[in-house]
Amino acid sequence: MKEVSLLDSKKNVVLSIKGLSKTIKKKQILHNIDMECYAGEVFGFLGPNGAGKTTTIKTVVGLLMLDEGEVSVCGHDITKEFEDAMANVGGIVENPEVYKYMTGRENLKQYARMRGLSLEEIDKAVEAVKLSNRINDKVSKYSLGMRQRLGVAQALMHKPRLLILDEPTNGLDPQGIKELRDILKQLAHEDGVCVVVSSHLMSEMELMCDRVGIIANGSMIGTYTMEEIVSRSKGKYSEYTIETDDAEAAKAALGGSAGLIAQGTTLFLRLNSMSAKADIAATIKNLVNNGINIYSVHPKESVSLEDAFIELTGTEGDGQIV
Ligand SMILES: Nc1ncnc2c1ncn2[C@@H]1O[C@H](COP(=O)(O)OP(=O)(O)OP(=O)(O)O)[C@@H](O)[C@H]1O
Ligand SMILES: [Mg+2]
Repeated sequence: MKEVSLLDSKKNVVLSIKGLSKTIKKKQILHNIDMECYAGEVFGFLGPNGAGKTTTIKTVVGLLMLDEGEVSVCGHDITKEFEDAMANVGGIVENPEVYKYMTGRENLKQYARMRGLSLEEIDKAVEAVKLSNRINDKVSKYSLGMRQRLGVAQALMHKPRLLILDEPTNGLDPQGIKELRDILKQLAHEDGVCVVVSSHLMSEMELMCDRVGIIANGSMIGTYTMEEIVSRSKGKYSEYTIETDDAEAAKAALGGSAGLIAQGTTLFLRLNSMSAKADIAATIKNLVNNGINIYSVHPKESVSLEDAFIELTGTEGDGQIV
């Protein structure tokens, strides 16, 4: 197997989907899907309910046959070289299969035996998902977040280059989402795994993903970096809040231009999304050069991200699933 170098990881295609179509019971569910995901990134697979995310993921992990198109993992075509392709795939689709009356470790041991894996892999996988302290507890005593971690550990045991998770944050509380996010980012950014996560919430993907692919009604709308999504948002503006000693003084230092609102110690800025990154950097520099103390700078993008998602997927109508 080719080693992943973090330096060239961005260009290392792990999952390639070309012209994927699928019809179930005479209804065409997937239409000519194209998608590429790289080593070292967290890729968000986003779409409203019924868009075709689970169907696509089931095809990639070998649970569904494809009708047309090509899917390959690490260069292995899943139809022609199924075993070589699957050796590189770890996934959770719907609920991971675990035995509640066993401990987490017993479950992983059982899985290792079934897959012919060495038991040493268990500790590494458990360490990666930060479940070491509770791994000897019975799964029946686990919270949902712990069960998710156990599922990810199981999916990681054979060291897959592609980790694909269908709606992994479903049912997790904000703290659980943050913890899972940190684990997945670490796997991608530090270990070079290609992590693909599906979701129907753009706001959730914002902090987790490097890129997103958007699917609606079984068709791929496109793949975007998070910045591209922001710049596509309806208002085309990104908002920031800056905490200072005196917002009026900060506003005056910036020439009081349009898009600035001062309220006590908080300065609100509205910047054109296309140039927001450069503009916020210039604004901060400007304030500091004018002797203004800055205590914090916060982007407020989540609303416009949801707007961008709704605009791209055309789901604004009456909310009916088509
Ligand atoms: N076994 C099946 N038989 C008939 N239709 C199916 C089957 N599986 C999926 N579909 C249909 O395919 C479409 C896509 O379903 P899929 O589960 O892939 O969507 P999804 O994007 O995962 O949605 P969600 O966000 O609700 O999980 C839906 O219209 C669904 O009804
Ligand atoms: Mg689904």
